[in-house]
Amino acid sequence: MSDIPWEQVDAVIARWAPRGRAGLLPCLEEVQSITGWLSPEVSRRIAEGLKVPLADVFGVITFYGLLYDRPVGRFVVRVCDDVSCFINGSREIVDACRSYLGVEPGETTPDGLFTLETHPCLGRCERAPFMMVNELEFGPITPQDVPRILEEVRKSGAGQEEEGV
Ligand code: FES
Repeated sequence: MSDIPWEQVDAVIARWAPRGRAGLLPCLEEVQSITGWLSPEVSRRIAEGLKVPLADVFGVITFYGLLYDRPVGRFVVRVCDDVSCFINGSREIVDACRSYLGVEPGETTPDGLFTLETHPCLGRCERAPFMMVNELEFGPITPQDVPRILEEVRKSGAGQEEEGV
């Protein structure tokens, strides 16, 4: 058995269970905030608790880009590569992240600290090019900003939202 904190997970499931399928997405988000990602055994537990088909749980995890069916780093770097960000230089932002972290999109650094991802519109088009590190928001940014941002995240473990840098 894994080191999943089942007591916490079960408490979340119990809270969302009365909502059934309507509670699935928030339940998944909340459980993921505890476990870091949604393993098959966790997904199964949620399906049983909310009385929804396991296939539906997997479907939501697959569809919803902020849920993970695999382990991710402590910090997930999401660079938007949708239209507004693309035409404002998201490709260069991704390149700067690749260069700093030494991984490709979809990969996690060997120390388990960072996972790099490209992402469809993150809803902050007015701040393009835009990226997020966990819940922190950065944009508009330049490729030159990327090493400083990621270094600060690495050092602090958290940070404040930046309104353009
Ligand atoms: S296109 Fe990048 S945030 Fe919308």
